[in-house]
Amino acid sequence: MKPVSIGLLGLGTVGQGVARILTRNAAEIERRTGCGIRVTLAAVRDRNKAEALNLGIGITTDAQALVSDPSIDIVCEAIGGEDPTLALLHSAIANGKHVVTANKALIAIHGNELFRAAHTHGVTVAFESAVAGGIPIIKALREGLAANRIQWLAGIINGTGNFILSEMAEKGRRFDDVLAEAQALGYAEADPTFDVEGIDAAHKLAIMASVAFGMPLRFDAVYTEGISKVTREDVEFADELGYRIKHLGVARRRKDGVELRVHPTLIPERRLLANVNGVMNAVVVYGDAVGPTLYYGAGAGSEPTGSAMVADIIDIVRALDADPSHRVPILGFQDDALKEHVMLKTADYQAAYYLRLHALDQPGVLATVTDIFGKLGISIEAILQKEPEMAIAGELTEDSIEVPIVPIILLTRRVREGLIEQAIERIQALSTITQPVTRIRVESL
Ligand code: NDP
Ligand code: HSE
Repeated sequence: MKPVSIGLLGLGTVGQGVARILTRNAAEIERRTGCGIRVTLAAVRDRNKAEALNLGIGITTDAQALVSDPSIDIVCEAIGGEDPTLALLHSAIANGKHVVTANKALIAIHGNELFRAAHTHGVTVAFESAVAGGIPIIKALREGLAANRIQWLAGIINGTGNFILSEMAEKGRRFDDVLAEAQALGYAEADPTFDVEGIDAAHKLAIMASVAFGMPLRFDAVYTEGISKVTREDVEFADELGYRIKHLGVARRRKDGVELRVHPTLIPERRLLANVNGVMNAVVVYGDAVGPTLYYGAGAGSEPTGSAMVADIIDIVRALDADPSHRVPILGFQDDALKEHVMLKTADYQAAYYLRLHALDQPGVLATVTDIFGKLGISIEAILQKEPEMAIAGELTEDSIEVPIVPIILLTRRVREGLIEQAIERIQALSTITQPVTRIRVESL
């Protein structure tokens, strides 16, 4: 069989990983596929920079010509963003080429239309590398767990965010410092607010939920909170209570609908997820037959991501001659069997909660707060009252004086989010509460 020809869009962190793996492991890969796989052409903007890499592949600055080149069998996209990548991938598909992409933003937002186009043209779109870097989580959800009705999944799915939280918690490093290091290591997105504000994790969660629950992509329905407001104080209080704070993506299928949410989360420190640090990612998937399963590995970086892209290429090569109806469906469910699910409103989400309040050090304050919870039927799991600190209560004015303020930490049992919002509103209205209440969700997993 003649070697399969790969056209690579982009030769940055991920594109270079793909090119290096395909060259270094060429013989081993050929033993797996029965034919050679060669990157014949790569498209970039800066030809000189790409040629200086000496990867031994053709370089072009005309990406459109690459996706139309009849000698290319599979287009592998590692450019990122929506423009010009969406148009390039549509052209590749229309030209009968299979597509492999690491671009979670593109799949999360435009996946439904790309999959329809791929179906029409009898080709496939593969995106293992778009979620959790080198971890084969898409393969696990789509194939390894295919016997199960998947009930929920929860994961640390942004390497940059986890790297920042881990370095802050373990070494007391500053947020900006760690972010700059993640950028230098090639982990961060072109716009790092995608990492820090949870947008990248929301893209990945939307993709995993579709594959897990057999539904069209619903990025628009993901509730998203980033890590930029997590303070050292909360990290330390969580630690005292036996928890770690992690940035989690959670997809849960309930009888009344689906919750899709990304937010900082307290996790009991004995859980494996609580001990996933640095750029590592991990996803727990709960299937009705298998119970909980855990997937762990590098969530970003050149060769870990390249590893996932090359695995997709190998899958496609193995089925190149197969009738399209005999291939594994793109989302793991037959196209006409995908089902729209009810997307629950945030007020109907359910979790336990960590609340941090700052109250005047006066008798009866704690009783008033617990009374609010009692009246709303919210059970309290634990209360931690810290030593008073001298601080200004409320807005700083010329007449401000320091008064004793007590930090109070409350952990609730599992409750509807709408009730917690009501409790926070009532607590914040008390004249004895001196600062906005901090709220972080708790998952025992
Ligand atoms: P880089 O910025 O390192 O590389 C982007 C590449 O695309 C460069 O070679 C750039 O060329 C090229 N490029 C940009 N615009 C064009 C264009 N219009 N035409 C042709 N080439 C173009 O990005 P990454 O490799 O980090 O990321 C690529 C994709 O992979 C993104 O979707 C990202 O989200 C995803 N991803 C990244 C991971 C990581 O660890 N970095 C992990 C998982 C997914 P030039 O340098 O000449 O401008
Ligand atoms: N910026 C992403 C992350 C890359 O840090 O997880 C991997 O998807």
